[in-house]
Amino acid sequence: MKSILMATLLACGAATAVAAAEPEIIRISTDATDLVLSVGRTGRLYQAYYGEKLRHDADVALVARNAHVGAGGGSTENQWEVCAGGGNESHFDPAIAVTHSDGNPSTYLYYVSSTSKPVDGGTQTDIVLRDDKYPLTVTLHYTAYEDEDVIKTWSDITHDEKGSVTLTAYASTLLYFDRPAYYLTEFSGDWAKEVQMSSQRLRYGKKVVDTKLGTRAAMKVSPFFEVGLGSPVEENRGEVLMGTLGWTGNFRFTFEVDNLGNLRVIPAINPDASAYALERGDVFTTPEFIFTLSQGGTGEGSRNLHDWARKYSLRDGMGGRLTLLNNWENTGFNFDQQRLTELMQEAKHLGVDLFLLDDGWFGNKYPRSGDNAGLGDWEATRDKLPGGVPALVAAAKQAGVEFGIWIEPEMVNPKSELFEEHPDWVIHYPNRDLYYYRNQLVLDLSNPEVQDFVFGVIDKIMTENPDIVYFKWDCNSPITNIYSPYLGKKQGNLYVDYVRGLYNVLQRVDERYPDVTMMLCSGGGGRCDYEALKYFTEFWCSDNTDPVERLYIQWGFSQFFPAKAMCAHVTSWNRAASVKFRTDVASMCKLGFDMGLQGLSKDELTFCQQAVSNWKSFGPALLDGDQYRLVSPYETNHMAVNYVSKDRKMAVLFAYDIHPRYAEKMENVRLQGLDPDRNYKVEETNLMPGARSSLSANGKVYSGDYLMKVGLSVFTTGQMRSRVVRLTAQ
Ligand code: DGJ
Repeated sequence: MKSILMATLLACGAATAVAAAEPEIIRISTDATDLVLSVGRTGRLYQAYYGEKLRHDADVALVARNAHVGAGGGSTENQWEVCAGGGNESHFDPAIAVTHSDGNPSTYLYYVSSTSKPVDGGTQTDIVLRDDKYPLTVTLHYTAYEDEDVIKTWSDITHDEKGSVTLTAYASTLLYFDRPAYYLTEFSGDWAKEVQMSSQRLRYGKKVVDTKLGTRAAMKVSPFFEVGLGSPVEENRGEVLMGTLGWTGNFRFTFEVDNLGNLRVIPAINPDASAYALERGDVFTTPEFIFTLSQGGTGEGSRNLHDWARKYSLRDGMGGRLTLLNNWENTGFNFDQQRLTELMQEAKHLGVDLFLLDDGWFGNKYPRSGDNAGLGDWEATRDKLPGGVPALVAAAKQAGVEFGIWIEPEMVNPKSELFEEHPDWVIHYPNRDLYYYRNQLVLDLSNPEVQDFVFGVIDKIMTENPDIVYFKWDCNSPITNIYSPYLGKKQGNLYVDYVRGLYNVLQRVDERYPDVTMMLCSGGGGRCDYEALKYFTEFWCSDNTDPVERLYIQWGFSQFFPAKAMCAHVTSWNRAASVKFRTDVASMCKLGFDMGLQGLSKDELTFCQQAVSNWKSFGPALLDGDQYRLVSPYETNHMAVNYVSKDRKMAVLFAYDIHPRYAEKMENVRLQGLDPDRNYKVEETNLMPGARSSLSANGKVYSGDYLMKVGLSVFTTGQMRSRVVRLTAQ
């Protein structure tokens, strides 16, 4: 159902609009939810309701009226202002705080007008607010994706004051909840330990989840969260808000339980060290905050987000994905043309689509033979690769695989020709000692000249090698030495303008090379947000490829991202785990390999070849279907997940035993999402050559109803065992 703009709004232009008898109402609806905003007696905009869809228009009017007299209402102080300005009568954190050109730090935003229009997949509502004393305008945008129950919101801030104003807070939105209790799940960690999920009850006061790392912003905490409303977050039941900020830089989520027991949620760019100077006439656009409110737990919320991402956000979201062989874990920096040619042949033998050359192929004056030199000098190292990249592309063609290449174009080693030639392109203090993260520094993408250089890295490689089909874009350092030689006195703009500079480059890459597949990487999963993923088809979840750890990491990322966006490679991490276990874990995401195939036994290699071919056949379920997380590794010694194609004709079940206890009671795994009235043939797949399935259901046919109510006995008491089961409708 399409959202309805309830009232055609009268008081346009009058920043001091006097309240009407009936509040003006703006209804932002998806199929299952309503966000109701209304203009109060003050002439300002308030949130009247956000929850399950209201069935009757009269009730929408009622919640709007009540908002200004009852819950959340009453005194102006306690009203739920949608875009609360800094320095006004609310004593809570504002959505937007502005120091005006005369030094006045107060902002009062009055409702001006609202319009809505259909956009791809949904309805966009634009609401104009204006300060009554200063020529400052804020336009709130909401896109409601009705079918997916997802809302995306962002704002534009602009002014016509003399000189610049300073923005000290610029949230993407402010949401309010009135529930008996709130439980936050956050996704924090570190390098090789991404998205560790932890939950806590929110009580009076503030909980802030933020990052100040700049480039590798999400290394310690990811830009998404879940809030259980009324009860702790559960997979299959309960009301849960799931939100994520599309911003590839510093972010801040503030959760505040106020004096009345209401929750305020403020997703924003982190304004720390970022008092932003906004010039007259310029528009400051906040990042998109993407959220869904599920009444059926996180499972339903994730499926909403996966569908939305594939259809409307992720680069090539509806397309296929390339399996690959990468060389980083196998060779590190130690390779030459001959070795790479052999690996390409191995890739072909394995049956993957692509060979991906990683770090270490460039630099001549300062060859990139370790991580301390060469970054920035994007010419192939002549000693190592005498034929350059063209010879590698040709070798890949000869081997019968596609070719992809690693770059880290935002960074520079001080030991590089680039740094020698352009020290002013590098973020660093003019008057302090340099300090490094991984021996490197960050280029100043707030500078348009540097943006041209970074775009030129890809453009040059592609111009010389038009057959390259894949880039792995890495980013291994946070911003250090935080000073832009370009921005002069506007240093508060650096973190924000850096990210905008990055988007400018990515936009140009997208326009010039729309068909190239792009993998986002940041020393593992240090970048994983939906704005970046407009330009990237997939991201590298973690350098930790120990399959046991990956079960947790992939469980975490799957809350917000579909399997086709998450790269997982079979490597030699955790050799105690079998090749089958490692491959089965990687197979529930976008599959790749990064290991020496020479080290595999004949059977292991045959297994891997078969697993690649099986993975390719799982596509309609795994890549484009619905995901059901069945058994959590956080709660049990196992993990299980199944994927079902949209037509429910095929499904794939992945089941893992991690470290079960001795004689542990084995529960059947009940599948989800099948058609209860269809029969499905159950077949265990991804078996080692010569192995026979010990699954008692193997080869038999069951109704979807049985599989979902009685389930399958797929777990064992074995350590690090796995099963992949295909279900085919008969
Ligand atoms: C960090 C990435 O996460 C790795 O996969 C690899 O590409 C290295 N960087 C290369 O330096």
